[in-house]
Formats: sequence, C-alpha cells, structure tokens
Amino acid sequence: MDQGETLREAVRAHYSAKAEAPSACCETDLCHTGYQPEALAALPEGIEMGLGCGSPTAWAQLRPGEIVVDLGSGGGLDVFLAAQRVGPAGRVIGVDMTEAMLARAQTSADRLGLKNVEFRHGLIEALPLDDASADVILSNCVVNLAPDKGAVFREALRVLKPGGQLVISDMVTLAELPKEIRQDPEMWVSCIGGAIPEKDYLEAMRIAGFAGVEILERNGIERGPVYSVTVRATKPR
Ligand SMILES: C[S@@+](CC[C@H](N)C(=O)[O-])C[C@H]1O[C@@H](n2cnc3c(N)ncnc32)[C@H](O)[C@@H]1O
Repeated sequence: MDQGETLREAVRAHYSAKAEAPSACCETDLCHTGYQPEALAALPEGIEMGLGCGSPTAWAQLRPGEIVVDLGSGGGLDVFLAAQRVGPAGRVIGVDMTEAMLARAQTSADRLGLKNVEFRHGLIEALPLDDASADVILSNCVVNLAPDKGAVFREALRVLKPGGQLVISDMVTLAELPKEIRQDPEMWVSCIGGAIPEKDYLEAMRIAGFAGVEILERNGIERGPVYSVTVRATKPR
C-alpha cells in the first residue's frame, strides 16, 4: 500500500466509527460554523450531525431546479440543506467513500422523506458522475483529507457544467506544517495533517482550470496555524 492509500484507509476507518456515534461533531472546533440556527433546528434529532468546518450551502446561491453535488457528504447535512433550496425540480447527490456514512445519510434521507437526494459510493478523486452534469459542487471539510488535492479539483471541473460553481469549506494553514504532523495518520484524519497553505490550495484550484477563485470567509485564523476557509470558484464557459 502506498502512502496515499494508507492515509485513505485511516480516513475510512475513522469516519466509519464517526458514522456510528449518535451525535458526532468535528474535531476542528468549527462544527456548525455559519449554519443558520433555524435551518439546523428544523432537522429532526440525530440528522444534524456536522463534521464540517464552514457552511458552503449557506454561501452557494442555489436555485430551484439545480443539480448539486456534495463531495464527501458524510451524514448528509449539507445535502439536506441544499435539497430544501433546489426543491423538487432539483437534485442533490452526495458522494462518499465510507459505507457507514452513506448508510447513515440514507437513513436520515428516508426519515426526512426527501425524494430529491441521492447518495453514491465513490472517491472524490474519481467521481461517479458524468461530465458537465452539475450546476454547483459543494464540499465541507473533505478535500484536506485527500492526498491528491489536484485530482479532486480536476474531477470537480470535469463534472461541473460550463459556468458552474464550486463552493468549498475546508481546513488550510498559514504555512506548511512540520513533516511529523503531515505524516501522522491521527493528525491527518482529524483534518489537520492534510491541510496545506491557503495560497497553495487556491493555486491548485487555478491549475486545475478554475477561474474567479475567491475567499468568501475565514474562520479561526486568529488561532492559526490551521484554520478554515470557504472558497468559491467557477468553471469557465
Ligand atoms: C470531516 S467529514 C465531513 C462530512 C460532511 N461533509 C460534513 O460536513 O459533515 C469527511 C467525510 O469525507 C469522506 N471522505 C474523505 N476522503 C474521501 C475521499 N477521498 N473520497 C470520498 N469521500 C471521502 C469521509 O468518509 C467523511 O464522510
């Protein structure tokens, strides 16, 4: 197993265990950051599990009828919030590599009676989606967990329609972290070890082909060196 595969297996094991926890929250201290309290309060107990570090759904200008994809959908919180916004004419597809997370998200979708959501098993580095099939791609605290961030951004570009939007919340750093932290699987699964400098993160999006890359929000930067950003980028027409 190469280093990337070893880290991916550690991530899968960690989030399988999280999926079984009744009221799991993220380790980054940024749980439920930016969500509108009314939106969360409207969800039944047990469904509001949030392992994210921002609120991409609140920032994305979702419109009725749109097709939305959530990369690393976890328990499905952003999928459920997005589903309310795109309505019955739209569709929200969550992609995750962890079976237990997909099962938890599907159970919640059934409890909510949502017909416009779907959860697919897959890697965000090789999305189980057609080219130019999505209007908006969201992701909340997931890309940092991927060893090859460039592959994730290239896949997002492939799947978006021309003019489509990518809105991501994720952990980044002020400067490159020491090797001992980057190579520690425990730090990696906790959304710290895989975080890269903000400027490198934005550059990876541009190199993949995104335009108009802009920071919408930073959280926790005063506590540095690891903090969360919400970023928007567009697939050129
Ligand atoms: C920190 S949790 C965030 C979950 C969700 N986005 C939220 O905000 O609650 C990370 C999720 O990403 C998934 N994940 C991590 N790396 C992945 C990859 N390479 N491909 C697909 N899913 C991945 C994990 O299984 C887990 O469910």
